Amino acid sequence: MSLWSLLDGGISHPSPANNWRLRFVYWCGRRLASRHKNVTVPKSCRIHPGARINPRNGAIRFGENCIVADGAIIQGLVEFGENCSVQPYSILTGYGTPEEPSGKITIGNHVRIASHGMFIATNHNFDDPGKPICKQGLSSAPITIEDDVWIAGRVNITAGVTIGQGSVIGGGSVVTKTIPPMSVAVGAPARVIRTRG
Ligand SMILES: CC(C)(COP(=O)(O)OP(=O)(O)OC[C@H]1O[C@@H](n2cnc3c(N)ncnc32)[C@H](O)[C@@H]1OP(=O)(O)O)[C@@H](O)C(=O)NCCC(=O)NCCS
Repeated sequence: MSLWSLLDGGISHPSPANNWRLRFVYWCGRRLASRHKNVTVPKSCRIHPGARINPRNGAIRFGENCIVADGAIIQGLVEFGENCSVQPYSILTGYGTPEEPSGKITIGNHVRIASHGMFIATNHNFDDPGKPICKQGLSSAPITIEDDVWIAGRVNITAGVTIGQGSVIGGGSVVTKTIPPMSVAVGAPARVIRTRG
């Protein structure tokens, strides 16, 4: 059993900080994240210390009241609005620098990202069959999740995609194209099955 699960009671979702143990756990999580100079974490955020947060050569900014669970990985150039959550084992990797944000990940307000999501804002180049793919470089493009979106479990969002405001992405989907606002989209590749409201 890890020190953190002893202190947090083994809960998977960072629950309200209503006792000293949880307050200490989230304080440690915020301190671990903000030891990097380009990470901004308001005090209202509940960051589990088991999350791996590193801006690499980019920057990570959380809005007020964000939640990041144990095991989530947030790397590179990533910006969150207010009141977002990232559940266990989701991976968000943005590329580029604040000056040249070629593959920035932008998350709006009130966004829910369930477990095992994968948002990687780059692809390996593979046009040359005579050269190993790993030696052909990367092409990055931004990923944008607008306000009030629910991304269910095990969703893969590819580089260059925008998920429109108010949308729901069903579990296990692979989103390769932009999804219009208020859509319910499912499948691999994700297709809009209906519009909310
Ligand atoms: C998308 C979802 C929210 C249901 O939305 P809905 O609008 O009520 O959709 P329905 O259940 O009416 O399904 C409509 C069609 O889409 C299909 N469908 C639903 N969810 C799907 C999914 N995740 N992947 C592929 N197809 C799916 C249904 O089989 C149905 O197909 P049919 O018309 O051929 O029978 C739900 O299926 C889902 O994926 N929930 C996420 C669960 C999860 O990950 N929870 C943890 C996160 S907190």
